[in-house]
Amino acid sequence: MKNILCFICSSTMKPSARFLISRTSKSFLGSAKQPLRSNRTHSSLGNTCRPGPATIIAPPPPPTPARFNPYRLMSTVFRPGFAPPSIAFANRGSFCVASRAVVRQQHSTSVETRVNENNFERIYVQNGIAAAAKPLVVERIDKDENIREVVSVEDGSAEEGDLNLRNPEGVEIVSPRREESDIEKEAWKLLNDAVVRYCGSPVGTVAANDPGDKTPLNYDQVFIRDFVPSALAFLLRGEGEIVRNFLLHTLQLQSWEKTVDCYSPGQGLMPASFKVRTVSLDGDKTEEVLDPDFGESAIGRVAPVDSGLWWIILLRAYGKITGDYTLQERVDVQTGIKLVLNLCLADGFDMFPSLLVTDGSCMIDRRMGIHGHPLEIQALFYSSLRCGREMLTVTDGSKNLVRAINNRLSALSFHIREYYWVDMKKMNEIYRYKTEEYSLDATNKFNIYPEQIPLWLMDWIPEEGGYLIGNLQPAHMDFRFFTLGNLWSVISSLSTPKQNEAILNLVEGKWNDIVGHMPLKICYPALENEEWRIITGSDPKNTAWSYHNGGSWPTLLWQFTLACIKMGRIDLARKAVSMAESKLGADRWPEYYDTRTGKFIGKQARLYQTWTIAGFLTSKVLLENPEKASLLFWEEDYELLEMCVCALSKTGRKKCSRVAAKSQILV
Ligand code: GLC
Repeated sequence: MKNILCFICSSTMKPSARFLISRTSKSFLGSAKQPLRSNRTHSSLGNTCRPGPATIIAPPPPPTPARFNPYRLMSTVFRPGFAPPSIAFANRGSFCVASRAVVRQQHSTSVETRVNENNFERIYVQNGIAAAAKPLVVERIDKDENIREVVSVEDGSAEEGDLNLRNPEGVEIVSPRREESDIEKEAWKLLNDAVVRYCGSPVGTVAANDPGDKTPLNYDQVFIRDFVPSALAFLLRGEGEIVRNFLLHTLQLQSWEKTVDCYSPGQGLMPASFKVRTVSLDGDKTEEVLDPDFGESAIGRVAPVDSGLWWIILLRAYGKITGDYTLQERVDVQTGIKLVLNLCLADGFDMFPSLLVTDGSCMIDRRMGIHGHPLEIQALFYSSLRCGREMLTVTDGSKNLVRAINNRLSALSFHIREYYWVDMKKMNEIYRYKTEEYSLDATNKFNIYPEQIPLWLMDWIPEEGGYLIGNLQPAHMDFRFFTLGNLWSVISSLSTPKQNEAILNLVEGKWNDIVGHMPLKICYPALENEEWRIITGSDPKNTAWSYHNGGSWPTLLWQFTLACIKMGRIDLARKAVSMAESKLGADRWPEYYDTRTGKFIGKQARLYQTWTIAGFLTSKVLLENPEKASLLFWEEDYELLEMCVCALSKTGRKKCSRVAAKSQILV
């Protein structure tokens, strides 16, 4: 057995910040039953894909020898449980040098958290040995003959083909109850056509598949956030393999050191997107490699903060829908969850429990004045913390992280419920706020000047209903309504049950503004004139009522459907879905629509946008099988509420009990 470390250097090429992963590995993607040690044969570069150990082509040596630290790179490569054996630090170039010693160093992997020791211990895993997986009893469904057979799969030995199974929670895999409409058939075909294969296996879907688009930029890549509705559509159809592959490949990408110029962003960062490239090797040989983008190529060099959060959310959904929990139990996957959450929970200068991010760090990936504590990120952060708490195996090494997750969950939900919420009553309070209050029990804690209440809101705020504002900073409330953040707060129970109801009441009451001719507006209202010039930096793509600036994004339909099902408002979801259904196919599945009511196809919208197609399909499947939705949303967690009230009681503000929690926080 040979482990080979390859340095591939090209003296003429400028060192690139990129790195590539090539060739899939059965043991990497395979069942948890397989030994997960990193003692593998080297597979030489220069072959086309075939089952076997992975070849990983990593970033080239950094510019100065002092920065080059193979041990650091390797420590991220050999995450416990990963199978990749042969490593290459590559510059898309030339030769290999073998080094066994470095590889052996890595069999014991220690991932140091960057979080305050008060909160966490180090994540330490010995020798890359996976934890024993629980036995799994499942029912195999023979698709053609509709015969069910009970199969006992021990130690997570479920193979990829076993994914079309009955969920142990008793939920059956979706089978269409009726003949699909032509538009649905077309959508499924387009979704299948968008599938990206890596070494023969499906690993994701391209962002858009527009045949007329001569400059696809990065729309020919697999975006992490865009893949979520595709993944759900596949999962709900009983197809788990593509999702499993996606989760494992993106996990592997997370491990790598990445650089933007001379700076390396945090270790747990997940890429915004990746592309499968075919690279030429010696002679006429080629090889497929995965080429991720962590923002170093993205327009504006924006950090994809939401990628890791979506990855965790999807991992949970995969377990819930397929019943295959062995994936989340794998040691490498557990480490991946910890890395994402550690990065989010790391101490900084923050005074708030909400996550502080730069502009463009989520679905709105351009400058739109959402830097600070945007709602969308907070809602995704909250649900990934809940997922983490659910999926993390509690051991001595993880118990501090779990404690920190619980603390953050309760602090975050209190903060958002209390300070982001606006309705008629709250607006009236803000309107009469006193300012410059210097004290511990100030009413106007963030020193909001009532003068900043925008004129549009004075008219717009309804008697009934309310919503969570877009952002909160010292002396600043961004009163815009952001759809994804509000919907995801409903879905994850970041907001209270009453607030959830009020949010949907607001959407219903403001139907023309938020839904109009095409569901759903990304935010309301648009920035216009001077505000647009200053806040977007005169962005010609984000002009008023276009793209991120008040454009309408049909992909948001699936989150809307999910929120509506959760809140028993199926009527609203049906109305929105049927409106989308009547147009999307004829309009060739645009990425977004423009104008105040979403009348026109977006001026620079891609056509055949995959998450438009997948969002529609996921909504249709959920509407047809509303019981499935419960696998994807969260109910109120009273334990968290109690923790929050008890924390507040220490400061003498509230009484500490569950009853008090319900009555004082859920008002
Ligand atoms: C745009 C969107 C972003 C999406 C990407 C690919 O940049 O703003 O959210 O992920 O396109 O579809």
